[in-house]
Amino acid sequence: MKRLFFRIGHVLLLFVVLQVVAGCEDDEISVSEAPSKEATYKPAEEEAGEEPIKIGFSMDTLLEERWLKDRELFKQAVEDLGAEVEIIAANGEDALQVWQAERLIERGIDLLVVVPHNAEATATIVERAHDAGIKVISYDRLVKNADVDLYVSYDNELVGELQAKAITSLAPKGKYVYIGGAETDNNAHLMKKGVFKVLDPLIEKGDITVVYDQWTKDWVPTNAQKNMEEALEANDNQIDAVISANDATAGAAIQALDAQGLAGKIPVAGQDADLAAAQRIVTDTQTLTIYKPIQALAETAAELAVKLAKGEEVEEDRTVNNGKVEVPSVLLSPIAVSKSNIVETIIDDGFHTKEEVYQFVED
Ligand code: BGC
Repeated sequence: MKRLFFRIGHVLLLFVVLQVVAGCEDDEISVSEAPSKEATYKPAEEEAGEEPIKIGFSMDTLLEERWLKDRELFKQAVEDLGAEVEIIAANGEDALQVWQAERLIERGIDLLVVVPHNAEATATIVERAHDAGIKVISYDRLVKNADVDLYVSYDNELVGELQAKAITSLAPKGKYVYIGGAETDNNAHLMKKGVFKVLDPLIEKGDITVVYDQWTKDWVPTNAQKNMEEALEANDNQIDAVISANDATAGAAIQALDAQGLAGKIPVAGQDADLAAAQRIVTDTQTLTIYKPIQALAETAAELAVKLAKGEEVEEDRTVNNGKVEVPSVLLSPIAVSKSNIVETIIDDGFHTKEEVYQFVED
């Protein structure tokens, strides 16, 4: 009995330490409700050796709307498959993300799923997991220069292509601003590659000039707003189009445009189908977002995670080079959403309700 109390006490202590070291509020860090292995009541067959599969989910941040959806939907999907999940987020700090992943590994997970904050720094996590015989799935963002076992994401290059195709059809000529994502995130590079695949021929023809092109440190919107302000100032407000790597940065760019009386006057693209972006689209200050149904990503990743954890074969569509190996990859298709198809995409899918999206539209 004493031993049992000691064990439960130990588990509680570890839980408290995880919360304290992360230094975050509840919103920014989460360990799933699923208790640790030691404290879990086990039915008779599990005592006989059939323990449920346990997945660890190491997230970068929960500060953006989409990651909260990823957390909930991934947890649900894993549990629907009869497995357990422990989730922890690193508040955008590299050392903390590595530390947290190490704790998950120590606690006996069967497989680790990682959303890296920093594509390079998280290679250590893959090494640590492999040392413990645990496979690693890169979720949404690719871990670079490491032997990642599987990558599950959307086609991020296509995200950029879809943005640029839509915006160039509205502004075929003129001065463009590109507000990139975080330089430390491989997705930001893929998205930019997709955008310039479309812009380059138009730049060569002389139709388009990219007058401003900057990364947004850590994807933080205030950094994007500063970038947009700089771009406006340097060009005497003579900007014809803005492509922004996600909706949070697009929102910030639109605030900078608004301060100059330009919101709604030039096309702006973002990504993620955030509620605020959907609201801007129907009120005409943002032109386009790229919708990536998170449920499909979470369910695909959960299914493949449980399979890999059981040692089963998984089928991948293709491979993506991460600087070290060709990583087997499953890449889902993103969807371009503007005012004209917002109902049959985001709303019909239940990603946001019609009431929420149209709440600022007057009848
Ligand atoms: C994701 C985007 C997200 C961004 C900032 C990217 O890696 O693909 O959906 O908006 O990170 O969190």
